[in-house]
Amino acid sequence: MNSVPIGLGISLPQKCIKNNELPKELNTSDEWIVQRTGISQRYIASEGETTASLATQAALKALEHAKISPQEIDLIVLGTVTGDYTFPSTATIVQKNLGITQGAAFDIAAACSGFVYALDVADSYIKLGKTKCALVIGSETFSKIVNWSDRSSCVLFGDGAGAMVLQAQENTDRGIKYSNICSDGGYLNHLITTGGVSTTQNAGFIKMNGQEVFKFAVEKFNESLNKLLKDNNMTIDDVDLLVPHQANSRIIHKLIAISGIEEKKVLINIDKYANTSAASIPLALNEVKDAFFSMGNIVLLSMGAGFTWGSVLIRL
Ligand code: ACO
Repeated sequence: MNSVPIGLGISLPQKCIKNNELPKELNTSDEWIVQRTGISQRYIASEGETTASLATQAALKALEHAKISPQEIDLIVLGTVTGDYTFPSTATIVQKNLGITQGAAFDIAAACSGFVYALDVADSYIKLGKTKCALVIGSETFSKIVNWSDRSSCVLFGDGAGAMVLQAQENTDRGIKYSNICSDGGYLNHLITTGGVSTTQNAGFIKMNGQEVFKFAVEKFNESLNKLLKDNNMTIDDVDLLVPHQANSRIIHKLIAISGIEEKKVLINIDKYANTSAASIPLALNEVKDAFFSMGNIVLLSMGAGFTWGSVLIRL
């Protein structure tokens, strides 16, 4: 059984804030942010725009793209660490919003690796024969948990959602060929929130050791890519499209230099959306939405808090 992507969709908040529109008190500049990160703007959720509402809109677009009805979905896996409520899961809110009353819906908390983790889980359910059609979503509202007085982290993040429909198909060579997810909790203090339900009874704010995150991301992107190539008897030239998590364009350019991949094969759209955590990979895939279904070998790479990291190979 193969898990074949058949639809993509995204959703963004209405409000877009360019670097030079950030609060003056931050004492930052468009030049600093562009040079150090590649980010030019980010979308920020207003009242009424939530992780679930963005996820629902992205899911509806993905279903429309796939030309299937919500009733065909029997699994929703949603990567997020900025859910609407402590419980129920944001996935169940999306399920309700879509009018789906069958199957299962749950969240995955892997921070910026959320979409890759969610794909790995949905693909496994399909390959086990437990699921026929899955919605895989990454949706975040990081603007709610950034410390708006910490210029070294708040300028990096944005809000948004992306979704993919995966369908079980037999007798095809298309679909998810490989996925590998990893974590090492020993690094948890490098990227963490200052609170949580069981500790402070509030969500807290992002606290980050930027330089450690940067080094680890370059190392793990490269390690994951090499493992994926080795495990699939591929060389870097066999990759037709590389979609890394969009954390910092300098991280991605280091990966390009180390791996030797042709730059034109690597998707970078961090300038438009900043780092949207679990939403970043589907927001990047949407850039090639029309060509996606005949792209060849597509490699997704993620890295996030935990630390968590992972890779996926899709052949279309
Ligand atoms: N505007 C202006 N100046 C700033 C800003 C800002 N927004 N932020 C920091 N600075 C200043 C610092 O105060 C420091 O000033 P000083 O030299 O006078 O002390 C100077 O810029 C350099 O600071 P560094 O922290 O050394 O800057 P660096 O080049 O490491 O860039 C950054 C910081 C962008 C955070 C980088 O480390 C990074 O991108 N790390 C990866 C973090 C990341 O991607 N996190 C996302 C979450 S995890 C994930 O998605 C994988």
